[in-house]
Amino acid sequence: MPSTTLPRRRAGATELSLPVLGVGCFTFGGGTYWGPQSQHDVDAVVGRALELGANFFDTAETYNDGTSESALGLALRGRRDAAIVCTKLQPDHAYAADVRRHCEASLARLQTDHVDVFMLHWPLNASALRHYTSDEAKLRHPPTIAEALHAMDALRQEGKVRHLAVSNFGPVQLAEALAVGVPLALNELPYNLLARGIEAAALPACARGSVGVLGYMALAQGLLTGKFATLDDVPTWRARLRHFRGDRPGSRHGGPGLEAETLAAVQGVRALATAHGLAPGDLALAWAASHPHMTCTLAGARNIGQLEANVRAVQTPLAPALYAELNRLTEEVRQMLGPCLDYYQSPADSRCW
Ligand SMILES: NC(=O)c1ccc[n+]([C@@H]2O[C@H](COP(=O)([O-])OP(=O)(O)OC[C@H]3O[C@@H](n4cnc5c(N)ncnc54)[C@H](OP(=O)(O)O)[C@@H]3O)[C@@H](O)[C@H]2O)c1
Repeated sequence: MPSTTLPRRRAGATELSLPVLGVGCFTFGGGTYWGPQSQHDVDAVVGRALELGANFFDTAETYNDGTSESALGLALRGRRDAAIVCTKLQPDHAYAADVRRHCEASLARLQTDHVDVFMLHWPLNASALRHYTSDEAKLRHPPTIAEALHAMDALRQEGKVRHLAVSNFGPVQLAEALAVGVPLALNELPYNLLARGIEAAALPACARGSVGVLGYMALAQGLLTGKFATLDDVPTWRARLRHFRGDRPGSRHGGPGLEAETLAAVQGVRALATAHGLAPGDLALAWAASHPHMTCTLAGARNIGQLEANVRAVQTPLAPALYAELNRLTEEVRQMLGPCLDYYQSPADSRCW
């Protein structure tokens, strides 16, 4: 694949310019969720992504217990300046007294003196904190959004952080965050053909607030590549979304799921892709990147082959007829899942509103 420059878009009202496709680093370091991931492949993916202009890397202190950040830091040795790095603060670390320590630990793992984007990983409520801590005092008194953002902003003013951002913030939570008065470049939100809940209110809220959008899980964790013949072939950890039956191992949404409709949508996307000589994942990525409010779409890539396919997929805009057909094929799933952007918990127990 020849070297190329991906189209870029500005993040909200900021000067931050991002490629339309960024590299999700959730697998980096390897771990329970994704299984093993070699540093050799991480080095190769990062190097090739820089060559192809996909120079935005999204990691988090919580991914694989910090080893995602460490693996990215190793891969960027000697070429840090060519990359735009985002890392995330977990919600139980967002108390005013804790933010600096956790940010500095991330910087150390990343082997850098600054990150380009410092993001609050989840909204600050007990339901979100419960995934990270069982400390009853913290669950009763989560950090406030004001203390979190002011502490993060102090690091921005020192230059340790270039831009601030939030993730998984619904429209109400985004309005509360914006009311703090600290500039926010981005809101990172789940967005793929099978997870379109943000179209209803979260995306318009970002546009109104001049906040850019990072779309995550664009391939539905591989499901939209068509690699799984049935939903039973999907690895356990990836089968906990609300699409899947709630009695699957590790699931916590408690609902019936919509497996037949999900499989029908995946098969429809696959048939459409075949008819156009494309891979289903190509259509899924091109569709996600086509939304006018989407600044950058993230996709994980475990090796150079996946990365190159993903970059190729977003290089040319999707034809309007294909875009409309993909919307039609996934409309039933969109309606059944509704506007809730928490795909792991029931709407009644959602962490995001
Ligand atoms: N803010 C948040 O709360 C949040 C939550 C989740 C994710 N994220 C971010 O979003 C990023 C992307 O989401 P994700 O990694 O969960 O899911 P994803 O991008 O939808 O799926 C990535 C996985 O799909 C497979 N894949 C990728 N490209 C492929 C290709 N061309 N052909 C076939 N298979 C391919 C790979 O796994 P296999 O080869 O193992 O199948 C890869 O790890 C994450 O890495 C993370 O940075 C953020």
